[in-house]
Amino acid sequence: MLVNLSNKRILLGISGGIAAYKSADLVRRLRDAGAEVRVVMTAAACQFITPLTLQALSGHPVHTELLDPEAEAGMGHIELARWADLVLVAPASADVIARLAAGLANDLLTTLWLACPGIKVIAPAMNQQMWVSSPTRENVECLLGRGVVVLGPASGSQACGDVGAGRMLEAVELARHCAGLFATGSLAGRRVVITAGPTREPIDPVRYVSNHSSGKMGYALAQACVEAGARVTLISGPVHLPTPERVQRINVGSALEMLSVAESAVSDGCDIFIATAAVADYRPVSVAEHKIKKTGDALTIELVRNPDIVATVASRPDRPFVVGFAAETRQVEEYAKGKLRDKRLDMIACNDVSRADIGFQSDDNAMVVFWDGGSQRLDKAPKTLIARELVSLIARQINPSL
Ligand code: PMT
Repeated sequence: MLVNLSNKRILLGISGGIAAYKSADLVRRLRDAGAEVRVVMTAAACQFITPLTLQALSGHPVHTELLDPEAEAGMGHIELARWADLVLVAPASADVIARLAAGLANDLLTTLWLACPGIKVIAPAMNQQMWVSSPTRENVECLLGRGVVVLGPASGSQACGDVGAGRMLEAVELARHCAGLFATGSLAGRRVVITAGPTREPIDPVRYVSNHSSGKMGYALAQACVEAGARVTLISGPVHLPTPERVQRINVGSALEMLSVAESAVSDGCDIFIATAAVADYRPVSVAEHKIKKTGDALTIELVRNPDIVATVASRPDRPFVVGFAAETRQVEEYAKGKLRDKRLDMIACNDVSRADIGFQSDDNAMVVFWDGGSQRLDKAPKTLIARELVSLIARQINPSL
């Protein structure tokens, strides 16, 4: 079964026990499934496995001390707790389970546990007699009563020679269970490439041809795709917007640059391509080396047609699902249907950019979406909401069972 933890942030707490060696494999499995992993180790855990090993595997410094000025200068411990979608303590020793149940905050791991608002999971590992002992049973019951998920332990022969329940579940099983704790997004595991914003076509070193696109629609789509579980590459023309979290953004200037970046992003793997960008249809034939001086009453700039990015992507033999936009000021739906056909798109979202209350620059939009054999009107709403609606239309086209 495919384990999918795309875009999930997992804080892995390792406590002291021989099973700590399995946590190295666990980090790898979680990352292979798409999660970002940060590791916190108790002092006892550091006796069994080195922080350096976990740092190499997770790709991030390992946190061990509650009062560490150097670590706090980076991602502070409260920030780290808030960052995590899920905190997993694996292995969870009898000692750490007792401290979690008692609500202690006497080291970094227990403090983070208390401060983390996300899903809480423990994977117990200890001697079989300790596992069945009354204090441990009561502590586990107490954690279960607070909504903590307890994974395992498994039964079998133990490092101490005993046989019984107390072995930590295998890393692959833990990763699978963690994935199951997240609601699956409608685009879980899909790779999405989005173009957004305007392009700038230089005339000379100080002037360019461009348009009014602010990038808001494309950025809202990037955010909505991430929320739906996709991995998103956002190819952005010059805009003044912050990059949505967990989105890989590549800045470009001209249409030719946008085309080149789009082609390589699609070649790297792309399931869905969404062309929100307002790409300049024409560019100056030549770019003057120096600022053009005023020499007469009129100036003629010759323009040449730019390549069509979305049509180029749609013509690839390995084409992804391709969604275009149509910005029109009249006969909006008619022109959009023509673009759907002529550019060989799977879907097109058309908006009336003659309206001041939607379209370019506005925080709101309204559109009609067309695909082969269907259409859907999306009434005026904030671009963030319109983006979510469009994402669910795309998801349903890709996977009709949704
Ligand atoms: O950025 P905002 O301020 O939020 O505004 C949002 C928006 C109005 C820009 C957006 O909703 C929108 O309509 N984007 C498409 C703009 C556009 O260029 O439309 P078009 O009808 O000219 O182009 C049709 C499609 O072909 C578009 O998907 C466009 O990205 C694509 N195209 C066009 C020309 C070209 N050379 N390459 C392309 O890929």
